[in-house]
Amino acid sequence: MAAISLRKTKALCFFLAIACGFVSTSAELRTFQQPTKRDGSLSFLVVGDWGRRGAFNQSQVALQMGRTGEKLNIGFVVSTGDNFYDNGLRDEHDTAFEDSFTKIYTAKSLQKQWYSVLGNHDYRGDAEAQLSPVLRNIDSRWLCLRSFIVDAELAEIIFVDTSPFVEKYFTETDGHNYDWRGITPRKPYIKNLLNDVESVLMESTAKWKIVVGHHAIRSVGHHGDTQELVNLLLPILKANNVDFYMNGHDHCLEHISDTESPIQFLTSGAGSKAWRGDVKDENRRGLNFFYDGQGFMSVQLTQSEADIVFYDVFGKILHRWNAQKQLHLSS
Ligand SMILES: *[C@@H]1O[C@H](CO)[C@@H](O)[C@H](O)[C@H]1NC(C)=O
Repeated sequence: MAAISLRKTKALCFFLAIACGFVSTSAELRTFQQPTKRDGSLSFLVVGDWGRRGAFNQSQVALQMGRTGEKLNIGFVVSTGDNFYDNGLRDEHDTAFEDSFTKIYTAKSLQKQWYSVLGNHDYRGDAEAQLSPVLRNIDSRWLCLRSFIVDAELAEIIFVDTSPFVEKYFTETDGHNYDWRGITPRKPYIKNLLNDVESVLMESTAKWKIVVGHHAIRSVGHHGDTQELVNLLLPILKANNVDFYMNGHDHCLEHISDTESPIQFLTSGAGSKAWRGDVKDENRRGLNFFYDGQGFMSVQLTQSEADIVFYDVFGKILHRWNAQKQLHLSS
């Protein structure tokens, strides 16, 4: 009897929540707290499209990330997805995890939290394996969820699962098997995710608002712009004063300034195989920098300043973008 009435009470609460709109408006995304440095500033590295057991200069990029990470005293690393090639992880015991991650990013400065999203190649394997706590037991740096929030005081970073947005992965699969468990039906998944991203951004009081996804909104590289994100995600970012959108997918380093808002589009997808030799001539609006080879990006933030730097496999600085943020002084 007691069990039944408890179940009834739960059902009642659930329906009340729906009726009042709690379920549809409240953010479902998990938040992780990331402390700033003692002086209140924040430094981190961004790398994407990397897991190839060290090949295609992955190990060289890792070595330079270690050196730069040391110099900047980074707090964490952001991975923009396509973590394991060619087809993600087979299961949570796949040795590719250690061969492409643990044994590659060995520098002391990189023994920090890695916040990861999934890329389209990750969805071609067992996508849920990458989200599994089993991996965190093998290497505690690993933290990969589909979509989540990192609250780093000075900055709020929203990680967005972008693969489900791309329609062709559902309609022209080219013989690839995508692991869409937990995603389909696609339309409500996307709608809920966009609602969550919007409400988090609207409520955010962080100085810097950053959104991370695997796919580019804007890119002049091989894959180009992701039209679904231009149509669905970009308007939300524009309306909510997002400073940076960071992504991988195109195996290059790239910086494009939005021509209609202060948003900077930053591609860091050069963690291993690169040199595709495919740069688009059309839609080069706002293009500041493009590099077709391997490398990574660093981000340094204070209350008033952002410093974004791109590096090649020798650790050489290829491009630097520095911006002041107006201090909102209360009168
Ligand atoms: C590794 O990096 C060097 C220097 O950029 C480049 O010349 C070489 O082609 C790269 N190797 C591969 C396999 O991409």
